[in-house]
Amino acid sequence: TGRVAYDPGFMNTANAKSAITYIDGDEGILRYRGYPIDELAEKSNFVETAYLLIYGNLPSASEYEEFETMIRRHTMVHEDFKTFFDGFPRDAHPMAVLAASVSAMSTFYSDSLDPFDDRQVEISTFRLLSKVPTLAAYAFKKSKGEPFMYPQNKLNYAENLLQMCFGFPTEEYEVDPVMAKALDTLLLLHADHEQNCSASTVRLVGSAHANIFTSISAGINALYGPLHGGANEAVLNMLRKIQAEGIEPEQFMEKVKNKEDGIRLMGFGHRVYKNYDPRARIIKKTADEVLEQMGSNNELLDIARRLEEKALADDYFIERKLYPNVDFYTGMIYKAMGFPEEMFTVLFALGRMPGWIAQWREMIQDPETKIGRPRQVYIGEGLRHYPGAK
Ligand code: CMC
Repeated sequence: TGRVAYDPGFMNTANAKSAITYIDGDEGILRYRGYPIDELAEKSNFVETAYLLIYGNLPSASEYEEFETMIRRHTMVHEDFKTFFDGFPRDAHPMAVLAASVSAMSTFYSDSLDPFDDRQVEISTFRLLSKVPTLAAYAFKKSKGEPFMYPQNKLNYAENLLQMCFGFPTEEYEVDPVMAKALDTLLLLHADHEQNCSASTVRLVGSAHANIFTSISAGINALYGPLHGGANEAVLNMLRKIQAEGIEPEQFMEKVKNKEDGIRLMGFGHRVYKNYDPRARIIKKTADEVLEQMGSNNELLDIARRLEEKALADDYFIERKLYPNVDFYTGMIYKAMGFPEEMFTVLFALGRMPGWIAQWREMIQDPETKIGRPRQVYIGEGLRHYPGAK
């Protein structure tokens, strides 16, 4: 009925009214529930920020205690999940395994699928926050052919994740506090980003009243794409390639500017931030601290710094308002922590989990939500007849 607006990529279309995250791309502002991201990165932690995103306000001390304890205590997954992991080929990408296992949560936890039962939604919320790190660590261990590690309730969220990824049953795992803190900060910085590709996917799938596990697994699949969450992995691949080919970062930049083979400077540019990405600033500081402490492949870091310096002074990038985004440095930090590239997007997914949950819950509670159903501009053939039909 009537004319439809043609808006590829939904550049100018709001699909939701949301009270969760505020972004001003021109000013480089990002706030969760009104709180600036830099204040949260400095003063809060990932679990508290998850509470803030999902419930709308910072928790009181007792609310925090209860929330944190719930997450700590529900980290075990159903033992049969292990056999599910056996079915994947050894070289399966952990992101694909993660998406599949979160989808499978709706088979293992079929008692909390009703989108309109608040108690069930609450249980699913805890299941996602507590158990997905365990599934992510299983995916990681599977890809390395190493034994799965059980979660340990004495450890906090980030410590437990590190233990499940890097620990072995034969020895006590010693948590490195600098690493755990840095991981917590990275997760917090990724916790929500309003109506990005994966959050919109979660809402769209959920708008059909699909349960929260399947909706979020769809979001994980969206995040897998290299233009979205896969960018941190792509940044490191790019740096490696430059290193392996022995070309100067400056030569690489010429290729980018000439759009040779369509290559882009990965980790640069953002659909919304056209000034700078406030998360990138905080991450740059974390990167300096972590890389200093852990000593990593400094050659890659040097290449990254030279690319950044060159890009920030180059007309091509200035005219197009292209600045480093959150992913430019995260990959290098994860690498220094010992994570292989395939795990970078998985870590992004763990960080984004509270955001997806908050977006899904807001969508399902909003009386104005309708099933997502974009229109199209038809450009195909007019009526024609099958031979012999007329
Ligand atoms: N390197 C070189 N040129 C670029 C880049 C880049 N990274 N990004 C955009 N451009 C150019 C693009 O070629 C175009 O030039 P022209 O006007 O001459 O055709 C112009 O800038 C506008 O680009 P666009 O693709 O229309 O911009 P967009 O807002 O649709 O794309 C983006 C945003 C993030 C997909 C894009 O900047 C990009 O591909 N960046 C590299 C991948 C990346 O780092 N992604 C992570 C995004 S942040 C994490 C997340 O939230 O998922």
